[in-house]
Amino acid sequence: MHLDSKYIKITNFLQKKVHGTSFPNPTVFALIVESDKKFSSNRIVSFGFTQKGGRPHAEAVAISNVKFLKNKIYTLYSTLEPCCHEGREESCVEKIIKSNIQRIIFSSKDPDKRVNGKGIKKLERSGLKVKYNIFADEIQNPYKGYILNRKFNRPKVTLKVGCSMDSKIAVKRGQRDQITNKIVKKIVHNIRSENDAILVGGNTIKIDNPDLNCRIPGLENLSPYKVILSKSLNFDSNSKIFKSKNRNLNIIFTLESNLKKIKSLKSKCYKVVTLKEEDFNLSNILSNLAKFGICNLLVEGGSKIFTSFLNEGLVDQLIIFRSNFFIGPQGQEMFSDKLKLRQNFFVITNVLNVQNNIMEIFDRKR
Ligand SMILES: NC(=O)c1ccc[n+]([C@@H]2O[C@H](COP(=O)([O-])OP(=O)(O)OC[C@H]3O[C@@H](n4cnc5c(N)ncnc54)[C@H](OP(=O)(O)O)[C@@H]3O)[C@@H](O)[C@H]2O)c1
Repeated sequence: MHLDSKYIKITNFLQKKVHGTSFPNPTVFALIVESDKKFSSNRIVSFGFTQKGGRPHAEAVAISNVKFLKNKIYTLYSTLEPCCHEGREESCVEKIIKSNIQRIIFSSKDPDKRVNGKGIKKLERSGLKVKYNIFADEIQNPYKGYILNRKFNRPKVTLKVGCSMDSKIAVKRGQRDQITNKIVKKIVHNIRSENDAILVGGNTIKIDNPDLNCRIPGLENLSPYKVILSKSLNFDSNSKIFKSKNRNLNIIFTLESNLKKIKSLKSKCYKVVTLKEEDFNLSNILSNLAKFGICNLLVEGGSKIFTSFLNEGLVDQLIIFRSNFFIGPQGQEMFSDKLKLRQNFFVITNVLNVQNNIMEIFDRKR
């Protein structure tokens, strides 16, 4: 395998190990390889990935750990085009130009207008060799939410459902039930940690009183933001979801303008976005979330919310965890009878055994 192909594949592989840990910036992975003049001896001398909170960037971390030697060639491999816009700090392109790196190889161009192709031009103008679009398809999936955010002003939407063999999500309407097994719970918490926000409807808050956080030891800090849709704010403001104070971008979308209620929710670390009736629709809510920087949104229920997202064609991935028992006709259906799911909209891409439960993954057809 060609040298560049080998190292970019390693870079793309390692990105997936840390993906979703750098909100609000995309998680980039970078490697620096030191070679002799003939490229007959090559070794990885440094690596870096975007840190929590989005800074420092991967390239900056990788560069800071290298002792550059004069008679060597240095290549920086990265999953994404290096940034070239000056923000709080010097851009990665500037840092690369100032370092002793001669070659830059990356997988995917950055869809952000401030960068897209501009980073490449700056590097080339400084006499550096740039190659890109190398195994870019490998990184499309992890960067899908980022691409949708920057190009279409909406996050990637994953809808996650736990159900019985006969597709019921609760034993009775209006009741809270644990339907799937303990391993599924761990997988769900892991999925939560990879998403920027979880969205639920007001009824799920009232009935389930969920925490909606990630409780895997060591990953608690990666608990996503919480988003609630409730036109009337008719839930208990002492629900568990309002107890966690670890993140400051929890948002409620509502029509309610009662200042007392809003003030009480704001004091619990919730932003309250009061919309006009005509603006209270999912497309508008998703574009609001995109503006807050949300790239990956996990929709966790309940049935009315699932149905609305599907009816509006806003779901990119559907993950169903199915248990090994039937609930029967008294159970709550996964989707309300208002569902108008278009045929062939999704394609099943994976089915996994989770002990005695099953995980089914459906992707939206391209
Ligand atoms: N097994 C699972 O995976 C799972 C997950 C979650 C919940 N559940 C179960 O689902 C049940 C709750 O589901 P649900 O269908 O009654 O309620 P829900 O989907 O949790 O919430 C629906 C409410 O959200 C508000 N809403 C705001 N915008 C909406 C929109 N665009 N589309 C739909 N609703 C919108 C509406 O209340 P306002 O009029 O006040 O705005 C609506 O009545 C519970 O039994 C719970 O246990 C199961």
